[in-house]
Order: sequence, then structure tokens, then C-alpha cells
Amino acid sequence: MSTSTSSIASTIAEILSHVDAGVMTITLSRVDKKNSITAAMYGALADALETANHDAAVRAVVIQGHETIFSAGNDIGDFLNNPPATPDSPVFRFLRGISSFPKPIVAAVCGPAVGIGTTMLLHCDLVYAGDNAAFSMPFVNLGLCPEAASSFLVPQLMGHARAAEALLLGEPFMAETALDIGLINRIVPPAEVNALAQRQALKLAAKPLSALIETKRLMKKGNAGTVAERMAEEGASFGRMLKEPAAREAFSAFMEKRKPDFSKV
Ligand code: COA
Repeated sequence: MSTSTSSIASTIAEILSHVDAGVMTITLSRVDKKNSITAAMYGALADALETANHDAAVRAVVIQGHETIFSAGNDIGDFLNNPPATPDSPVFRFLRGISSFPKPIVAAVCGPAVGIGTTMLLHCDLVYAGDNAAFSMPFVNLGLCPEAASSFLVPQLMGHARAAEALLLGEPFMAETALDIGLINRIVPPAEVNALAQRQALKLAAKPLSALIETKRLMKKGNAGTVAERMAEEGASFGRMLKEPAAREAFSAFMEKRKPDFSKV
């Protein structure tokens, strides 16, 4: 495939992806449910990354959501009914895929980025955000522990004290803070974010791919082993905790639109 052609790489209704001029653009497209991600969507995301990895015509990837919402994280109902049971579950396939993806990934983030909506950004190379972006990792509030190696990468990025606010209190932080700690590269008006991400990805796609891949590999080498190990450990804990009373209560409360009661768990 030539880098100047445009093609649909893979599609389910909620995960759109196409390749144009060397850039695969993956769009989370389930806005009515705030781009929360089901197992089927994780599978499609993992497949798209696998295709992008093996397709020599793809030289960079953009992941984007909607101007009002990046992602509300895991689809809570889907997780409740269909918890990821093994390391081959789609969510873990996606996390392994994005964390070891060899080519550059650019993310465009507007509105809330909850849970994996934030933690996946730790595995992107360039992140552009709208001034409406709000990042949060409320795993504890859901009776869960961090995933995507965020228990390692978040303290490394922002220091233990700020990581504790984000991961123990589950407090959200806005784009300015994300810029300050180095999670994102730039803040622009929401209507401009996707276009900026696309421009940056096109710049990457014009560079020699072998040099991009080797440079990214070397940049990530120091963390790669720990990230893989931590993700596996988090995944085992996360899978166990999903079945425990705290998570059951948190998820049921969300579905029933009430406050959770953790007094008995
Ligand atoms: N899983 C499943 N459904 C979700 C969801 C999720 N994570 N997040 C939102 N939705 C659904 C809502 O249930 C609602 O569905 P309905 O219209 O059928 O009632 C719809 O999306 C709109 O959500 P709503 O909460 O009304 O939108 P909002 O603009 O007021 O708030 C969020 C947006 C993202 C702040 C809020 O939806 C939220 O906090 N979601 C949960 C985030 C979360 O805890 N994720 C898990 C991380 S591990």
C-alpha cells in the first residue's frame, strides 16, 4: 500500500480506523455512552494497533475521541457482566499492544479522560489536549487498583505526592496540570485538537520509519521491563478485585445511579 492512499483499516461501529498518508487514525466513536469502552471495542483497538504495527504503510498512529469526550474508561456494565478473566482478554491485549507499540502514537484528548482514558496516554508519544480536557484515574473509588502500569508510571511522572492525589483520592486534574507534569504536550481549543494531532502525525510520517522506531525503542528501554511486569501484576489484581464486594458495590451503584456505600466492604 502506498503512503499516499487512503483506506479503511478496520471498523466496528464504535471504533473507526482508517489509514491516510502514512497515518492510521483510530477514533473512539460511542459518544452517547461517553466513549466508554466495551470488550468488543478493546478487541477492535488491539486489532487496529496490530494492523498498524505490521502494515509498512503505517508510520504513525493517531488516537482521538470527540470534541466533548475522550473516554469515560471501561464500560462499567460490560465489565460487571463480562469481566476480563485471562491475560488474553481484549482489554489486556490492548494494553500490551499500546505499551509495546513500536511506531509513534499521537493522542488528541478533549473533555473527560477517565481511567484507561488517562492511563492509555502514558503509552502515547505526543498528547494534544483541548482546554476542556479533564483527566482522572478513579480506580480506588471503584474498588479497583490501577492498570496500564499506571501504578509505576504515574508516580514516576508526577512524584508520589501528586500521584497519591490522583490514584488514592482519585481526584481529577485539568489540562494545565497535565501540561505542568508532562503528561501532555500542548493545550489548544477543543475544535483544533484533532487537526493539530493530525499535523504532528503527518510530520512524523514524513521521517524515516526505522529511525523513529529505534529512537522510540531506546527512549522506552529503561522502563520497558518494569512496565510489562507491572502491567501483568496489576492485571492479576484488577481481575481479582473486579469480583470482590467493593467493586461490585461501586459498579452496581453506578448502574443504579446512586452513591456507593463502602461501609460494609
Ligand atoms: N460505563 C458505562 N456507561 C457509561 C460510562 C461508563 N464508564 N460512563 C458514562 N456512561 C453512560 C451513562 O450511564 C449514561 O448512559 P444513559 O444515557 O443510558 O443513562 C451516558 O453514558 C451519559 O453519561 P452521563 O454520566 O450522564 O454523562 P455526564 O456528561 O454527566 O458525565 C462522565 C460524563 C464521563 C464524567 C461520567 O459519565 C462518568 O463519570 N462516568 C463513569 C466514569 C468511570 O468511573 N469509568 C470507569 C473507570 S475504570
